[in-house]
Amino acid sequence: MLVGLIQNDPDFGDCPGNARRLVSLMDAASKQGRETGEAPALFVLPELCFSGYQFLSAQEAISLAEKPEGGPGIDIIARAAESLDAAVVFGFPERCGGDCFNSSMLLEPGGARSVYRKTHLFYKEKLAFKPGDSGFVLREFRGLRVGLAVCFDWFFPESFGTLARMGADLIAHCSNLVLPFCQKADFARAVENRVYVFTANRCGAEERGGERLSFSGNSVALSPRGDYLASLPVAGSAFALVKVDPALSRDKRLNEFNDLWKDRRPEFYK
Ligand code: ACM
Repeated sequence: MLVGLIQNDPDFGDCPGNARRLVSLMDAASKQGRETGEAPALFVLPELCFSGYQFLSAQEAISLAEKPEGGPGIDIIARAAESLDAAVVFGFPERCGGDCFNSSMLLEPGGARSVYRKTHLFYKEKLAFKPGDSGFVLREFRGLRVGLAVCFDWFFPESFGTLARMGADLIAHCSNLVLPFCQKADFARAVENRVYVFTANRCGAEERGGERLSFSGNSVALSPRGDYLASLPVAGSAFALVKVDPALSRDKRLNEFNDLWKDRRPEFYK
């Protein structure tokens, strides 16, 4: 399967405009794929990719949040999933009654929607969002088992480890990275779990409420052997196309004596 890794620089609060610009990137990636023989069947987009990141309050987050069934940003992504015949993983502020979660969704052509609510909230996200209550989410799409994670989850190795042990071939990691280490740490997450890791990160900066946050761009895709299959620039919207093979992530044998899962000693782990 060919997978599109997408990086963007959203304008805070312009959900339809940002979603349309994301679709332009997906269109361009799909066109490039078709020209070289295969269109991408899956796209991975950043965290909060059409709303922007720095919410000043829970009320502000709710005012831009959307229900998984649809809204100004999600509907535009959903139409693109149909027209490109591809699944899309993207981050969005999820409205649930009077609450808001920092969520990601695997949205499939045909309409199926799997939602993951970010487990580990970062910094002032704690003022705007409720901690995720979904647990980690895995969904098989056209033979590829896709696990969902959102940004700061990477800081807790149990997140990607849990998804890998649930059977993930690829971890779709929607991000708005502020700390500089994730793209390096992804190497360890990929090799210690033998999974593909796709960190779709945003770039640019946001200044809200007197605080300026810069996002590190440099979205990356890693193979289950730790190869950097794609590495996007630090600045600017961009995409990459990456071929993935689930057989590679399902082979957990390191050599004739070692198997990643069979060699675990959970009785000694804390
Ligand atoms: C983050 O979790 N967005 C840093």
